[in-house]
Amino acid sequence: MSTTFTLDTSTSRAHPVPEPVRRLTVPAISKRKGKDGAGEPIVMLTAYTARMAQLLDPHCDLLLVGDSLGQVIYGLDTTVKVTIDMMIAHGAAVVRGSYRSVVVIDLPFGSYEESPEAAFRTASRVMQETGAAAVKLEGGAVMAPTVRFLSERGIPVMAHVGLTPQAVNALGGYGARGRSEAEQAKILADAKAVADAGCFALVVEGVVEPLARAITEAVACPTIGIGASPACDGQVLVVDDMLGMFERVPRFVERFDDLAARISDAASRYAGAVRERRFPGDAQLYR
Ligand code: KIV
Repeated sequence: MSTTFTLDTSTSRAHPVPEPVRRLTVPAISKRKGKDGAGEPIVMLTAYTARMAQLLDPHCDLLLVGDSLGQVIYGLDTTVKVTIDMMIAHGAAVVRGSYRSVVVIDLPFGSYEESPEAAFRTASRVMQETGAAAVKLEGGAVMAPTVRFLSERGIPVMAHVGLTPQAVNALGGYGARGRSEAEQAKILADAKAVADAGCFALVVEGVVEPLARAITEAVACPTIGIGASPACDGQVLVVDDMLGMFERVPRFVERFDDLAARISDAASRYAGAVRERRFPGDAQLYR
């Protein structure tokens, strides 16, 4: 896909405008479930801003506006404090900045658990105000009736099992799940329940490899792993982790760049240039 740029003369910023491209659809993602792991791997990253969405969009199948934005963008300690308004503001920005990927938006803690009807109200508002194609919610068997209720009413749902960060207060931390046979059986049953209820894809987070493999084999929809081994049908990472924006990241993250160091270096050079009166230079002057 080639990209051209249009100059916004009011701000002097260039925006990428790709050749007309059809957005991927939720059914197209569901069909990517391969038989015996033979499907084309699904690529998902989180995105929270329009500019990041523009940069990631050509390379991804799905962009997830994750409630991880609470920690990544807002410096909160958990995702529990994220609000619907935050998700809508960032979700709309990501939809505006993307052309190809399916955009999925996390329903935040407290906005959907109470009942399928409450979930429908939140999810329909999120979709109407952002233009996103689907929502994601955390939870297993207990959320299956909600997954079914939304899916049957035109709201595609991505489910999320294993380590579910919104439940951090109940789980007691972010450790990997499925280390005992009983916990493996519970998470497998959760995965089957939400898949049978109609989720179009399933995030499997922070589970031991044999469990990720068992879930992927057991469910009809694609699984998207994060800290869940290559056994899944696709992978997702928090984009800032993958870009090396944080000094410490979970063990399952590979840093594909070291942006924190590069930003720090650029800021240090800028500060030096200002202090030594080398910036602004001739090239930046209005004459
Ligand atoms: O909020 C988020 O970013 C997520 C991913 C980690 C799957 O749920």
